[in-house]
Amino acid sequence: MESQIESRTAEIAVIGLGYIGLPTAIMFANAGFKVTGYEIREEVVKKVNSGEAHIVEPEIDELLRKAVESGNLSATSNPDEITGKDVYIICVQTPLGEDKTPNLSYLESAVRTVARVMKKGSLIVIESTVPPLTTVKMAKLIEEITGFKAGEDFYMVHAPERVMPGRIFKELVYNSRIFGGITPQSAELAEKLYRSFVKGQIFRTNSTVSEVVKLMENTFRDVNIALANEFAYLAHQYGIDVFEAIELANTHPRVRIHVPGIGVGGHCLPKDPHLLIWPARDDFGLIRLAREINDGMPLLTKDLLFEALKAVNLPPEKAVVTVLGLAYKGDSDDTRNSPALEFIEAIGEDVGEVRTYDPFVGGTHGSVEDAVKGADAVVIATDHSEFKSLDWEKLGKLMRTRILVDGRHVVKEPPEGFIFKGIGRGEF
Ligand SMILES: NC(=O)c1ccc[n+]([C@@H]2O[C@H](COP(=O)([O-])OP(=O)(O)OC[C@H]3O[C@@H](n4cnc5c(N)ncnc54)[C@H](O)[C@@H]3O)[C@@H](O)[C@H]2O)c1
Repeated sequence: MESQIESRTAEIAVIGLGYIGLPTAIMFANAGFKVTGYEIREEVVKKVNSGEAHIVEPEIDELLRKAVESGNLSATSNPDEITGKDVYIICVQTPLGEDKTPNLSYLESAVRTVARVMKKGSLIVIESTVPPLTTVKMAKLIEEITGFKAGEDFYMVHAPERVMPGRIFKELVYNSRIFGGITPQSAELAEKLYRSFVKGQIFRTNSTVSEVVKLMENTFRDVNIALANEFAYLAHQYGIDVFEAIELANTHPRVRIHVPGIGVGGHCLPKDPHLLIWPARDDFGLIRLAREINDGMPLLTKDLLFEALKAVNLPPEKAVVTVLGLAYKGDSDDTRNSPALEFIEAIGEDVGEVRTYDPFVGGTHGSVEDAVKGADAVVIATDHSEFKSLDWEKLGKLMRTRILVDGRHVVKEPPEGFIFKGIGRGEF
Protein backbone atom coordinates (compact mmCIF):
# COMPACT_ATOMS: atom_id res chain seq x y z
CA MET A 1 0.00 0.00 0.00
CA GLU A 2 2.82 2.45 0.90
CA SER A 3 4.40 2.19 -2.52
CA GLN A 4 1.00 2.58 -4.21
CA ILE A 5 0.42 5.75 -2.23
CA GLU A 6 3.89 7.05 -3.08
CA SER A 7 3.44 6.32 -6.80
CA ARG A 8 -0.14 7.67 -6.61
CA THR A 9 -1.49 4.46 -8.08
CA ALA A 10 -3.63 3.78 -4.98
CA GLU A 11 -7.33 3.99 -5.92
CA ILE A 12 -9.49 6.13 -3.67
CA ALA A 13 -13.24 6.22 -3.00
CA VAL A 14 -14.68 9.25 -1.24
CA ILE A 15 -18.03 8.53 0.42
CA GLY A 16 -20.31 11.60 0.53
CA LEU A 17 -19.65 14.52 -1.84
CA GLY A 18 -20.81 17.45 0.31
CA TYR A 19 -18.97 20.52 1.60
CA ILE A 20 -16.07 18.36 2.81
CA GLY A 21 -16.15 15.28 0.56
CA LEU A 22 -16.22 17.07 -2.81
CA PRO A 23 -13.22 19.37 -2.13
CA THR A 24 -11.31 16.41 -0.66
CA ALA A 25 -12.05 14.25 -3.72
CA ILE A 26 -10.92 17.13 -5.97
CA MET A 27 -7.65 17.55 -4.06
CA PHE A 28 -6.73 13.85 -4.33
CA ALA A 29 -7.73 13.72 -8.02
CA ASN A 30 -5.64 16.79 -8.84
CA ALA A 31 -2.74 15.26 -6.88
CA GLY A 32 -2.79 12.40 -9.42
CA PHE A 33 -4.91 9.70 -7.76
CA LYS A 34 -7.88 7.96 -9.44
CA VAL A 35 -10.82 8.99 -7.29
CA THR A 36 -14.41 7.74 -7.35
CA GLY A 37 -16.92 9.78 -5.41
CA TYR A 38 -19.78 7.71 -4.01
CA GLU A 39 -22.86 9.76 -3.21
CA ILE A 40 -26.48 8.81 -2.51
CA ARG A 41 -27.92 12.03 -4.00
CA GLU A 42 -28.35 11.40 -7.74
CA GLU A 43 -28.47 15.10 -8.60
CA VAL A 44 -25.05 15.61 -6.99
CA VAL A 45 -23.57 12.66 -8.94
CA LYS A 46 -24.88 14.11 -12.21
CA LYS A 47 -23.56 17.59 -11.51
CA VAL A 48 -20.11 16.40 -10.43
CA ASN A 49 -19.75 14.21 -13.53
CA SER A 50 -20.58 17.18 -15.72
CA GLY A 51 -17.89 19.20 -13.96
CA GLU A 52 -20.36 21.43 -12.12
CA ALA A 53 -20.10 22.12 -8.39
CA HIS A 54 -23.27 21.95 -6.30
CA ILE A 55 -21.78 24.05 -3.51
CA VAL A 56 -20.53 27.64 -3.48
CA GLU A 57 -16.83 27.85 -2.67
CA PRO A 58 -14.01 30.00 -4.11
CA GLU A 59 -11.92 28.16 -6.77
CA ILE A 60 -14.17 25.08 -6.78
CA ASP A 61 -15.40 25.46 -10.39
CA GLU A 62 -11.91 25.49 -12.00
CA LEU A 63 -10.53 22.81 -9.69
CA LEU A 64 -13.50 20.48 -10.21
CA ARG A 65 -13.41 20.92 -13.99
CA LYS A 66 -9.69 20.12 -14.00
CA ALA A 67 -10.24 16.98 -11.89
CA VAL A 68 -13.08 15.68 -14.07
CA GLU A 69 -11.45 16.55 -17.41
CA SER A 70 -8.21 14.79 -16.39
CA GLY A 71 -10.27 11.62 -15.97
CA ASN A 72 -9.11 11.31 -12.36
CA LEU A 73 -12.47 12.12 -10.76
CA SER A 74 -15.86 10.59 -11.40
CA ALA A 75 -18.94 10.15 -9.24
CA THR A 76 -21.41 7.32 -8.84
CA SER A 77 -24.35 6.24 -6.75
CA ASN A 78 -23.69 2.58 -7.47
CA PRO A 79 -21.75 0.95 -4.60
CA ASP A 80 -20.45 -1.80 -6.93
CA GLU A 81 -18.31 0.84 -8.63
CA ILE A 82 -16.28 1.36 -5.46
CA THR A 83 -15.47 -2.32 -5.00
CA GLY A 84 -11.91 -3.25 -4.04
CA LYS A 85 -10.51 0.26 -3.61
CA ASP A 86 -7.28 0.81 -1.68
CA VAL A 87 -8.60 3.77 0.31
CA TYR A 88 -12.10 4.78 1.48
CA ILE A 89 -12.57 8.29 2.84
CA ILE A 90 -15.89 8.80 4.63
CA CYS A 91 -17.21 12.40 4.63
CA VAL A 92 -20.92 11.98 5.42
CA GLN A 93 -22.89 14.28 7.68
CA THR A 94 -23.18 13.58 11.42
CA PRO A 95 -26.09 15.80 12.50
CA LEU A 96 -28.12 15.90 15.69
CA GLY A 97 -31.57 14.34 15.87
CA GLU A 98 -34.67 16.15 17.15
CA ASP A 99 -33.71 15.25 20.72
CA LYS A 100 -30.22 16.78 20.26
CA THR A 101 -28.50 13.40 20.38
CA PRO A 102 -26.13 12.44 17.54
CA ASN A 103 -27.70 10.86 14.47
CA LEU A 104 -24.99 8.46 13.35
CA SER A 105 -27.20 6.65 10.84
CA TYR A 106 -25.48 8.24 7.78
CA LEU A 107 -22.07 7.25 9.13
CA GLU A 108 -23.15 3.71 9.99
CA SER A 109 -24.74 3.25 6.60
CA ALA A 110 -21.56 4.52 4.87
CA VAL A 111 -19.42 2.18 6.98
CA ARG A 112 -21.68 -0.77 6.09
CA THR A 113 -21.38 0.08 2.39
CA VAL A 114 -17.58 0.22 2.70
CA ALA A 115 -17.49 -3.07 4.62
CA ARG A 116 -19.41 -4.74 1.76
CA VAL A 117 -17.06 -3.56 -1.00
CA MET A 118 -13.60 -3.15 0.59
CA LYS A 119 -10.73 -5.58 0.21
CA LYS A 120 -8.12 -6.96 2.56
CA GLY A 121 -5.52 -4.23 3.15
CA SER A 122 -7.85 -1.26 2.55
CA LEU A 123 -7.31 1.96 4.50
CA ILE A 124 -10.53 3.52 5.83
CA VAL A 125 -10.45 7.17 6.81
CA ILE A 126 -13.31 8.84 8.70
CA GLU A 127 -13.21 12.59 8.08
CA SER A 128 -16.66 13.16 9.58
CA THR A 129 -16.78 14.67 13.05
CA VAL A 130 -17.89 11.91 15.44
CA PRO A 131 -18.53 11.35 19.17
CA PRO A 132 -15.56 9.95 21.15
CA LEU A 133 -14.98 6.19 20.68
CA THR A 134 -16.94 6.04 17.39
CA THR A 135 -13.98 5.06 15.15
CA VAL A 136 -13.18 2.09 17.36
CA LYS A 137 -16.87 1.06 17.28
CA MET A 138 -16.95 1.37 13.49
CA ALA A 139 -13.79 -0.76 13.21
CA LYS A 140 -15.58 -3.44 15.26
CA LEU A 141 -18.60 -3.21 12.95
CA ILE A 142 -16.35 -3.76 9.93
CA GLU A 143 -14.73 -6.76 11.69
CA GLU A 144 -18.21 -8.25 12.28
CA ILE A 145 -19.32 -7.76 8.67
CA THR A 146 -16.10 -8.78 6.90
CA GLY A 147 -14.45 -11.19 9.32
CA PHE A 148 -11.24 -9.14 8.81
CA LYS A 149 -9.11 -8.13 11.78
CA ALA A 150 -8.72 -4.38 12.39
CA GLY A 151 -5.10 -3.21 12.24
CA GLU A 152 -4.01 -6.40 10.45
CA ASP A 153 -6.41 -6.94 7.55
CA PHE A 154 -7.48 -3.31 7.26
CA TYR A 155 -6.34 0.06 8.55
CA MET A 156 -8.55 2.73 10.00
CA VAL A 157 -8.04 6.39 10.91
CA HIS A 158 -10.05 9.31 12.16
CA ALA A 159 -8.81 12.37 10.25
CA PRO A 160 -10.97 15.28 11.37
CA GLU A 161 -11.44 18.19 9.00
CA ARG A 162 -10.71 21.73 10.22
CA VAL A 163 -11.52 23.77 7.13
CA MET A 164 -13.69 26.86 7.12
CA PRO A 165 -16.19 27.32 4.28
CA GLY A 166 -15.01 30.15 2.05
CA ARG A 167 -11.34 29.16 2.55
CA ILE A 168 -11.60 25.40 2.00
CA PHE A 169 -9.04 24.99 -0.79
CA LYS A 170 -6.41 27.04 1.04
CA GLU A 171 -7.03 25.43 4.39
CA LEU A 172 -7.03 21.87 2.99
CA VAL A 173 -3.42 22.51 1.99
CA TYR A 174 -2.06 24.70 4.79
CA ASN A 175 -3.98 23.65 7.95
CA SER A 176 -2.25 21.29 10.32
CA ARG A 177 -3.96 17.91 10.64
CA ILE A 178 -4.47 15.30 13.34
CA PHE A 179 -4.57 11.66 12.25
CA GLY A 180 -5.87 9.28 14.91
CA GLY A 181 -5.23 5.68 14.00
CA ILE A 182 -6.77 2.57 15.50
CA THR A 183 -3.12 1.40 15.23
CA PRO A 184 0.07 3.48 14.74
CA GLN A 185 0.51 1.99 11.25
CA SER A 186 -2.98 3.21 10.24
CA ALA A 187 -2.04 6.80 11.13
CA GLU A 188 1.31 6.48 9.31
CA LEU A 189 -0.42 5.33 6.12
CA ALA A 190 -2.90 8.22 6.30
CA GLU A 191 -0.06 10.70 6.80
CA LYS A 192 1.69 9.40 3.66
CA LEU A 193 -1.55 9.64 1.68
CA TYR A 194 -2.46 13.19 2.73
CA ARG A 195 1.11 14.41 2.21
CA SER A 196 0.22 14.33 -1.50
CA PHE A 197 -1.35 17.77 -0.98
CA VAL A 198 -1.13 18.80 2.71
CA LYS A 199 1.64 21.28 3.43
CA GLY A 200 0.65 21.96 7.07
CA GLN A 201 1.99 19.97 10.02
CA ILE A 202 0.63 16.48 10.57
CA PHE A 203 0.34 15.01 14.06
CA ARG A 204 -0.33 11.33 14.70
CA THR A 205 -2.25 9.97 17.68
CA ASN A 206 -4.96 7.40 18.44
CA SER A 207 -8.50 7.72 17.09
CA THR A 208 -10.21 8.60 20.39
CA VAL A 209 -7.77 11.46 21.01
CA SER A 210 -8.32 12.86 17.51
CA GLU A 211 -12.11 12.62 17.96
CA VAL A 212 -11.88 14.55 21.24
CA VAL A 213 -9.43 17.11 19.80
CA LYS A 214 -11.81 18.00 16.97
CA LEU A 215 -14.77 18.31 19.33
CA MET A 216 -12.78 20.35 21.88
CA GLU A 217 -11.82 22.83 19.16
CA ASN A 218 -15.41 23.61 18.23
CA THR A 219 -16.60 23.48 21.84
CA PHE A 220 -13.90 26.03 22.74
CA ARG A 221 -15.27 28.35 20.09
CA ASP A 222 -18.91 27.78 21.05
CA VAL A 223 -18.30 28.39 24.77
CA ASN A 224 -16.27 31.53 24.03
CA ILE A 225 -18.97 32.88 21.72
CA ALA A 226 -21.50 32.22 24.50
CA LEU A 227 -19.33 34.25 26.87
CA ALA A 228 -19.19 37.10 24.33
CA ASN A 229 -22.98 36.85 23.95
CA GLU A 230 -23.41 37.08 27.73
CA PHE A 231 -21.18 40.17 27.70
CA ALA A 232 -23.43 41.61 24.97
CA TYR A 233 -26.48 40.93 27.12
CA LEU A 234 -24.87 42.70 30.09
CA ALA A 235 -23.78 45.60 27.87
CA HIS A 236 -27.45 46.24 27.03
CA GLN A 237 -28.16 46.58 30.74
CA TYR A 238 -25.34 49.07 31.29
CA GLY A 239 -26.13 51.01 28.12
CA ILE A 240 -22.69 50.55 26.56
CA ASP A 241 -21.42 49.28 23.21
CA VAL A 242 -20.02 45.80 23.83
CA PHE A 243 -17.87 45.98 20.68
CA GLU A 244 -15.99 49.00 22.01
CA ALA A 245 -15.55 47.22 25.35
CA ILE A 246 -14.33 44.02 23.67
CA GLU A 247 -11.86 45.90 21.49
CA LEU A 248 -10.41 47.57 24.57
CA ALA A 249 -10.37 44.34 26.62
CA ASN A 250 -8.57 42.59 23.76
CA THR A 251 -5.66 45.03 24.09
CA HIS A 252 -4.75 42.95 27.19
CA PRO A 253 -1.91 40.63 26.11
CA ARG A 254 -3.69 37.47 27.30
CA VAL A 255 -7.34 38.23 26.45
CA ARG A 256 -9.10 37.45 23.17
CA ILE A 257 -12.85 37.78 23.54
CA HIS A 258 -14.90 36.34 20.68
CA VAL A 259 -17.60 38.11 18.64
CA PRO A 260 -21.21 38.25 19.90
CA GLY A 261 -24.14 38.09 17.47
CA ILE A 262 -27.57 36.79 16.50
CA GLY A 263 -26.47 33.19 17.07
CA VAL A 264 -24.26 30.30 16.08
CA GLY A 265 -25.09 28.24 12.99
CA GLY A 266 -23.63 25.88 10.45
CA HIS A 267 -23.32 22.14 10.41
CA CYS A 268 -20.62 22.02 13.08
CA LEU A 269 -20.60 24.48 16.01
CA PRO A 270 -24.17 23.91 17.22
CA LYS A 271 -23.76 20.14 17.22
CA ASP A 272 -20.15 19.36 18.08
CA PRO A 273 -20.43 20.29 21.80
CA HIS A 274 -23.33 17.80 22.02
CA LEU A 275 -21.21 15.15 20.30
CA LEU A 276 -18.40 15.74 22.82
CA ILE A 277 -20.51 15.15 25.92
CA TRP A 278 -22.95 12.57 24.53
CA PRO A 279 -21.01 9.37 25.35
CA ALA A 280 -19.77 10.69 28.73
CA ARG A 281 -21.23 9.39 32.00
CA ASP A 282 -21.26 12.88 33.51
CA ASP A 283 -20.33 16.50 32.83
CA PHE A 284 -20.23 19.86 34.63
CA GLY A 285 -22.89 21.65 32.59
CA LEU A 286 -20.83 24.58 31.26
CA ILE A 287 -20.89 23.24 27.71
CA ARG A 288 -24.67 22.75 27.83
CA LEU A 289 -25.23 26.24 29.24
CA ALA A 290 -23.11 27.77 26.47
CA ARG A 291 -25.27 25.98 23.91
CA GLU A 292 -28.42 27.33 25.58
CA ILE A 293 -27.06 30.90 25.57
CA ASN A 294 -26.13 30.71 21.88
CA ASP A 295 -29.46 29.08 20.97
CA GLY A 296 -31.23 31.95 22.76
CA MET A 297 -29.65 34.74 20.68
CA PRO A 298 -32.29 34.80 17.90
CA LEU A 299 -34.85 35.40 20.66
CA LEU A 300 -32.78 38.27 22.06
CA THR A 301 -32.74 39.74 18.54
CA LYS A 302 -36.53 39.38 18.46
CA ASP A 303 -36.73 41.30 21.76
CA LEU A 304 -34.62 44.11 20.24
CA LEU A 305 -36.94 44.28 17.22
CA PHE A 306 -40.07 44.36 19.38
CA GLU A 307 -38.58 47.08 21.61
CA ALA A 308 -38.04 49.20 18.50
CA LEU A 309 -41.59 48.56 17.25
CA LYS A 310 -42.92 49.55 20.68
CA ALA A 311 -40.90 52.78 20.54
CA VAL A 312 -42.83 53.83 17.42
CA ASN A 313 -46.17 52.45 18.69
CA LEU A 314 -46.39 49.96 15.85
CA PRO A 315 -48.16 46.73 16.85
CA PRO A 316 -46.00 43.78 15.67
CA GLU A 317 -48.93 42.21 13.80
CA LYS A 318 -49.02 45.29 11.55
CA ALA A 319 -45.27 45.40 10.93
CA VAL A 320 -43.52 44.49 7.68
CA VAL A 321 -40.10 43.11 8.62
CA THR A 322 -37.27 42.55 6.14
CA VAL A 323 -34.56 40.08 7.13
CA LEU A 324 -31.26 40.58 5.29
CA GLY A 325 -29.33 37.32 5.15
CA LEU A 326 -30.41 33.70 5.51
CA ALA A 327 -27.01 31.93 5.51
CA TYR A 328 -25.36 31.27 8.85
CA LYS A 329 -22.16 33.05 7.81
CA GLY A 330 -21.09 35.88 5.54
CA ASP A 331 -20.63 35.27 1.80
CA SER A 332 -21.81 31.66 2.05
CA ASP A 333 -24.95 29.90 0.81
CA ASP A 334 -25.01 27.51 3.78
CA THR A 335 -28.24 27.81 5.79
CA ARG A 336 -27.76 24.78 8.01
CA ASN A 337 -28.84 25.64 11.60
CA SER A 338 -28.81 29.28 10.55
CA PRO A 339 -29.84 31.68 13.34
CA ALA A 340 -31.47 33.78 10.62
CA LEU A 341 -33.97 30.96 10.06
CA GLU A 342 -34.50 30.54 13.81
CA PHE A 343 -35.16 34.27 14.05
CA ILE A 344 -37.67 34.16 11.18
CA GLU A 345 -39.44 31.23 12.83
CA ALA A 346 -39.53 33.12 16.12
CA ILE A 347 -41.14 36.26 14.66
CA GLY A 348 -43.17 34.56 11.90
CA GLU A 349 -46.45 34.21 13.80
CA ASP A 350 -46.20 37.58 15.52
CA VAL A 351 -45.49 40.08 12.75
CA GLY A 352 -47.58 41.14 9.78
CA GLU A 353 -45.18 40.14 7.01
CA VAL A 354 -41.66 38.74 6.81
CA ARG A 355 -39.58 39.43 3.72
CA THR A 356 -36.17 38.00 3.06
CA TYR A 357 -33.21 38.74 0.82
CA ASP A 358 -29.93 36.84 0.59
CA PRO A 359 -27.56 37.29 -2.38
CA PHE A 360 -26.33 33.68 -2.10
CA VAL A 361 -29.44 31.81 -0.97
CA GLY A 362 -32.30 33.73 -2.58
CA GLY A 363 -35.32 34.77 -0.52
CA THR A 364 -38.71 36.32 -1.12
CA HIS A 365 -37.18 39.36 -2.88
CA GLY A 366 -34.47 39.75 -5.49
CA SER A 367 -32.66 42.84 -4.19
CA VAL A 368 -32.18 44.82 -1.01
CA GLU A 369 -34.13 47.73 -2.49
CA ASP A 370 -37.12 45.53 -3.37
CA ALA A 371 -37.06 43.87 0.01
CA VAL A 372 -36.99 47.08 2.06
CA LYS A 373 -39.50 49.08 -0.04
CA GLY A 374 -42.44 49.86 2.29
CA ALA A 375 -40.93 47.87 5.18
CA ASP A 376 -41.11 49.00 8.80
CA ALA A 377 -37.99 47.28 10.05
CA VAL A 378 -34.84 45.75 8.60
CA VAL A 379 -32.98 43.08 10.54
CA ILE A 380 -29.44 42.16 9.48
CA ALA A 381 -28.96 38.46 10.21
CA THR A 382 -25.85 37.63 8.13
CA ASP A 383 -22.64 39.61 7.58
CA HIS A 384 -22.55 39.26 3.78
CA SER A 385 -20.12 41.76 2.19
CA GLU A 386 -23.00 43.31 0.24
CA PHE A 387 -24.64 44.44 3.48
CA LYS A 388 -21.52 46.23 4.72
CA SER A 389 -21.68 48.99 2.14
CA LEU A 390 -25.41 49.70 2.01
CA ASP A 391 -26.51 53.33 1.72
CA TRP A 392 -28.94 53.60 4.64
CA GLU A 393 -29.90 57.17 3.84
CA LYS A 394 -31.15 56.02 0.43
CA LEU A 395 -32.75 52.81 1.73
CA GLY A 396 -34.42 54.69 4.58
CA LYS A 397 -36.33 56.77 2.01
CA LEU A 398 -37.88 53.58 0.62
CA MET A 399 -39.04 52.35 4.03
CA ARG A 400 -42.38 53.04 5.72
CA THR A 401 -40.81 53.17 9.18
CA ARG A 402 -37.06 53.44 9.76
CA ILE A 403 -36.10 50.69 12.18
CA LEU A 404 -32.77 48.93 11.79
CA VAL A 405 -31.74 45.95 13.95
CA ASP A 406 -28.18 44.72 13.47
CA GLY A 407 -27.55 41.14 14.60
CA ARG A 408 -24.05 40.99 13.14
CA HIS A 409 -22.28 44.29 13.87
CA VAL A 410 -22.40 45.12 10.17
CA VAL A 411 -23.47 48.77 10.61
CA LYS A 412 -20.69 50.45 12.58
CA GLU A 413 -22.38 53.86 13.00
CA PRO A 414 -26.15 53.96 13.60
CA PRO A 415 -27.56 55.78 10.54
CA GLU A 416 -29.29 59.16 10.99
CA GLY A 417 -33.06 59.15 11.27
CA PHE A 418 -33.30 55.45 12.22
CA ILE A 419 -34.33 53.76 15.40
CA PHE A 420 -31.26 51.57 15.69
CA LYS A 421 -30.80 48.47 17.82
CA GLY A 422 -27.99 45.95 17.66
CA ILE A 423 -26.82 42.93 19.63
CA GLY A 424 -24.63 44.40 22.38
CA ARG A 425 -25.14 47.96 21.18
CA GLY A 426 -26.29 50.35 23.87
CA GLU A 427 -29.42 50.34 25.98
CA PHE A 428 -31.94 47.59 25.58
N1 LIG B 1 -18.93 21.72 6.49
C1 LIG B 1 -17.90 22.05 7.21
O1 LIG B 1 -17.46 23.19 7.19
C2 LIG B 1 -17.19 21.01 8.07
C3 LIG B 1 -15.97 21.36 8.68
C4 LIG B 1 -15.32 20.41 9.45
C5 LIG B 1 -15.90 19.16 9.64
N2 LIG B 1 -17.10 18.86 9.05
C6 LIG B 1 -17.66 17.53 9.27
O2 LIG B 1 -17.57 16.81 8.06
C7 LIG B 1 -18.69 15.93 7.91
C8 LIG B 1 -19.39 16.20 6.59
O3 LIG B 1 -19.90 17.51 6.60
P1 LIG B 1 -20.42 18.22 5.28
O4 LIG B 1 -20.62 19.65 5.62
O5 LIG B 1 -19.54 17.86 4.13
O6 LIG B 1 -21.84 17.46 5.10
P2 LIG B 1 -22.77 17.49 3.78
O7 LIG B 1 -24.14 17.21 4.25
O8 LIG B 1 -22.49 18.71 2.96
O9 LIG B 1 -22.23 16.24 2.93
C9 LIG B 1 -22.47 14.93 3.26
C10 LIG B 1 -22.81 14.18 1.97
O10 LIG B 1 -22.83 12.78 2.24
C11 LIG B 1 -23.90 12.20 1.50
N3 LIG B 1 -24.23 10.92 2.14
C12 LIG B 1 -24.92 10.71 3.29
N4 LIG B 1 -24.96 9.40 3.60
C13 LIG B 1 -24.30 8.76 2.62
C14 LIG B 1 -23.99 7.39 2.36
N5 LIG B 1 -24.36 6.45 3.24
N6 LIG B 1 -23.30 7.09 1.25
C15 LIG B 1 -22.91 8.06 0.38
N7 LIG B 1 -23.16 9.36 0.57
C16 LIG B 1 -23.83 9.72 1.68
C17 LIG B 1 -24.99 13.24 1.55
O11 LIG B 1 -25.94 13.06 0.54
C18 LIG B 1 -24.18 14.54 1.42
O12 LIG B 1 -24.04 14.93 0.06
C19 LIG B 1 -19.58 16.18 9.14
O13 LIG B 1 -19.31 15.23 10.12
C20 LIG B 1 -19.14 17.55 9.61
O14 LIG B 1 -19.36 17.72 10.99
C21 LIG B 1 -17.75 19.76 8.27
